[in-house]
Amino acid sequence: MFTKDGKAKDIKTPRIVQDVWHNGEWIKWNDARVHVMSHVLHYGSSVFEGIRCYKTKRGPAIFRLKEHMQRFLNSAKIYRMEHEWTRDVLCEAAIELVLRGGLEQCYIRPILFRSLDEDRPAFGVNPFPNPLACYIGAWDWGKYLGEEAIEQGVDVCVSTWNRLTPNSMPAMAKSGANYMNSQLIKMEALLNGYAEGIALDDRGLVSEGSGENIFVVQDGRVVTPQLSSSILPGITRDSVIQICRSLEIPIVENNIQRAALYIADELFFSGTAAEITPIRSVDKITIGTGKRGEITRRIQEAFFQITSGERQAPGEWLTYVNEHKSAQAPVNNNGHDATQLKASGASSGISESVIDYQTAVREN
Ligand SMILES: Cc1ncc(COP(=O)(O)O)c(C=O)c1O
Repeated sequence: MFTKDGKAKDIKTPRIVQDVWHNGEWIKWNDARVHVMSHVLHYGSSVFEGIRCYKTKRGPAIFRLKEHMQRFLNSAKIYRMEHEWTRDVLCEAAIELVLRGGLEQCYIRPILFRSLDEDRPAFGVNPFPNPLACYIGAWDWGKYLGEEAIEQGVDVCVSTWNRLTPNSMPAMAKSGANYMNSQLIKMEALLNGYAEGIALDDRGLVSEGSGENIFVVQDGRVVTPQLSSSILPGITRDSVIQICRSLEIPIVENNIQRAALYIADELFFSGTAAEITPIRSVDKITIGTGKRGEITRRIQEAFFQITSGERQAPGEWLTYVNEHKSAQAPVNNNGHDATQLKASGASSGISESVIDYQTAVREN
């Protein structure tokens, strides 16, 4: 899966929901395009989210939707992106998108960025003259670090690249530009034969993976870096903290030295894409027994039971889209109503509003 040239796709070919929410309207996937001179392409001016919708017995359920949309709004606020979208409107749009797609499970991607006003184009760094565009798309995505990684764990390295500094690029905002740093970390890891890289902060303390938060288990206690170590305030990280409390596993946020990784009993990543993924080695040093540890297993088990709706979450973490009011209300723009979409999706597991990526776009 992780080829040395890094060119293997990291995730199985996804199925894509054909409808896309754009500034309050529904458009088709193929129409969701931008001008190449858009501000975002040149200066990285975007903020986005990644949200999972899980398969449950009660139909698809979006995990911690409100929290994700709140972080989306926070990221926009940090970058002075003044837009009209409220958290409720964005949550409703995400729910309707899942209903339209008819997939049993999917990954939802809201993005807000500075585009181009083609009648009055502006090309400078100053972002203010450029109009904002907001989109939400969705696709079916597999396990980010591989199916077997969830059980077996992954081999990772400490990156030679540091994480962003708090007063240069705020890691608290989930901005597109931050992912240039993530790409440096990820590419270096892949080219050296590792599944992922862990970045240190500017003080040399452990920060996070290129797209995941990290947890250390030592002597029965779980430790994770503080927000001041330039980490993204992960929603899965928060879920892990709350799960630990409910399982009465001691959990603290603290500074973590690089060397503490090597001597940890257990290590694991958390993230929307990576979910809970054990780490079995760092820089070729085996962590603990080299297998998923018992505390990681317990947290992972609780996490997957919660996301599949089989275990009570510590809060209102799941939005069951089929039980939401928009599942009963008509959907406006393509002649379908949401109940029909739900029915067609339920029977085949895939509705007409989903396209297979391979049929739409050539393999890269
Ligand atoms: C850099 C980074 N850290 C942490 C995370 C985990 O955050 P969350 O659990 O909200 O997905 C992500 C994933 O989006 C990420 O990209």
